Amino acid sequence: MQKYNFIKSAFNFSNAPIKRFVKIEKKEDLLKKLKDEISNIENCTLKNNSNNLVFADGDHDSNIMLIGEGPGQKEDEQVKPFVGDAGLLLNKMLAAINIKRNKVYVTNIVNYRPPENRKPNEVEINTYAPFIKKHISIINPKLIILLGSTAMEAFFGNKEKISKSRGVWKELIVNNKTYLTMVTFHPAYLLRQPDQKKFSWADLKEIKNKIEELKIGI
Ligand code: URA
Repeated sequence: MQKYNFIKSAFNFSNAPIKRFVKIEKKEDLLKKLKDEISNIENCTLKNNSNNLVFADGDHDSNIMLIGEGPGQKEDEQVKPFVGDAGLLLNKMLAAINIKRNKVYVTNIVNYRPPENRKPNEVEINTYAPFIKKHISIINPKLIILLGSTAMEAFFGNKEKISKSRGVWKELIVNNKTYLTMVTFHPAYLLRQPDQKKFSWADLKEIKNKIEELKIGI
């Protein structure tokens, strides 16, 4: 009798029901996990020399995410970003374009206060880079505003000068998603150099225009 060899199937069949629903984790849970991850950083000079992890402030459903440099003394004490003098100016800058501070989402490149408020160094920025990237992906904003040169350098490298790069929309790719991003002066810099406020005002108007043009809800 002729025998037939059946072609060996490359598939394994199973009677298990197909998983049609993928559990989507809530933003709150993802943010809590991220915060826990950051708090577990080891051998970090910033963490070892500060009191608190300063994570974020504002509305996590906001379409606008602001990213500063790192917490200062007041932020470390109050466990919230941008609550000192720079934060007060930031609130005024936002109010000037009719945005309430609690309607945006605010965080920093590094989440622990650098000693003596120094700029975070390259190693520190690189340590925190995966966290800020994850943070952006969780918030998934329509616009990202990078406040100051540290935030700019963390994403665009140190080849550019903020005086040249500020005020223009750039596309920033984070975890395969493109975000419309603008670099503008840090409010702490504006407190030291008030003559630069005219450029900041131009940037704020541009942000307002973009919000209107794209009909971004805030
Ligand atoms: N400067 C920053 O960059 N972030 C803060 O939270 C406060 C001051």
